[in-house]
Amino acid sequence: MKVARLALPLLVFSAVIAAACNKGDTPPADGGEPAGEAAPAVPVSFDPSTITESELALGDSIFHGLIGATSCQSCHGAGGQNGAAAPSLADDKWLHSDGSFEGIHKTIASGVMTPKEFSGVMPPFGGAPLDAAKHRAVAAYVYRLSHK
Ligand code: HEC
Repeated sequence: MKVARLALPLLVFSAVIAAACNKGDTPPADGGEPAGEAAPAVPVSFDPSTITESELALGDSIFHGLIGATSCQSCHGAGGQNGAAAPSLADDKWLHSDGSFEGIHKTIASGVMTPKEFSGVMPPFGGAPLDAAKHRAVAAYVYRLSHK
């Protein structure tokens, strides 16, 4: 009695699953933020007379978290005033620089690891890197808060 089990499901599917509709489904780079890596050294002028209105508008949007991955407002308050976690940026008292355009620009990049009046720290760029143009724009915005 041999039970010849010849159930041989030889399902030899030679995989002809080539060309799997692999079209470039890359979404268009619509307004995507550049990664914020330090752009190749573009000289930055700290002459306040070079600050433009469009730069101030960009800086305002960055400061208030409308552009970019972080919000200065969240610590410094709207318009740089009455922040719960960070000092006013709209008066003439400066804790970490001379309050010049260049000084403010530097503080934004370094952040503040050793705060003088508040208990929290400020991460560099407030938390997420900014490219050179955005860095300058938000520094210009902050500078103008106290230098009309
Ligand atoms: C997580 C909270 C936080 C965020 C976000 C933040 N800061 Fe700050 N910032 C601080 C703190 C804290 C200090 C230092 C306070 C102290 O010394 O007591 C500071 C200090 C500063 C100073 C120096 C002020 C001075 O008196 O010299 C500048 C300028 C400044 N921040 C700008 C910015 C800008 C621009 C952004 C957004 C790009 C930003 N900060 C985001 C917390 C923050």
